[in-house]
Amino acid sequence: MRLDRFLVNQGFGSRKEVQKLIKSGVVKVNEEVIDDPSYHIDPNKDIVNIDGEEIEYKENFYFMLNKPKGYITAAYDEKYPTVMDLFSSEPMIDKLFPIGRLDIDTEGLLIITSDGQLAHRITHPKWNIEKEYFVIVDGDVSDIDFSRYEKEGIYLKKEKYKTKPFKVEVLKTSPEESEILITITEGKYHIIKNIMSELKHEVLYLKRVRIGPLRLDEDLAPGEYRELTKEEIDMIKRSVKM
Ligand code: URA
Repeated sequence: MRLDRFLVNQGFGSRKEVQKLIKSGVVKVNEEVIDDPSYHIDPNKDIVNIDGEEIEYKENFYFMLNKPKGYITAAYDEKYPTVMDLFSSEPMIDKLFPIGRLDIDTEGLLIITSDGQLAHRITHPKWNIEKEYFVIVDGDVSDIDFSRYEKEGIYLKKEKYKTKPFKVEVLKTSPEESEILITITEGKYHIIKNIMSELKHEVLYLKRVRIGPLRLDEDLAPGEYRELTKEEIDMIKRSVKM
């Protein structure tokens, strides 16, 4: 791979910017200054450093975002800001995209990545990846027998669709509102809102807190993101046999 391409891929700027960087003589390959942007390297073997700092080669990028309300899960929208606007300062932005979709008024865990294979597997029904949501609904849910839905799912009359089995844990109830955790394994549009609507409750607040083995970092305020650690990347990949 050309040295300039390598640095673009690793997020050091545009082609023009990294070419300038290389020509300025601050880039070393295996301890030797290389000022030729077309110089070829093997990213898996050669050691590249800039100003003495070694660059760890990353084939793909992985972030967790705590999606805030008011943002669309898409790369572009005419009317609303998108989750990718929150990443606009990342130089590799054009390679990144969100895995799956959260509604505009939903908060919580979104994985933003450049890894198409991971995205495909996490969203493919075959892998049955669990997605856990914290939900506040209006009214008291204590009279609902949720255990039956764990075995057989629920038929959504309006959508004419039978869901897959899902799990519910009731955290708190009162006559005004209830807090519950719902774990589903499918990614149908508005699925949580539609399930609760079938049960005659309106969703007042919705936040995704987990995808497979990956939990939303509680230190991330809505709108904040961080890179996944090596352990988290390995864990999420292992969950879909990658
Ligand atoms: N279910 C919903 O209704 N909305 C979401 O954003 C995610 C799951």
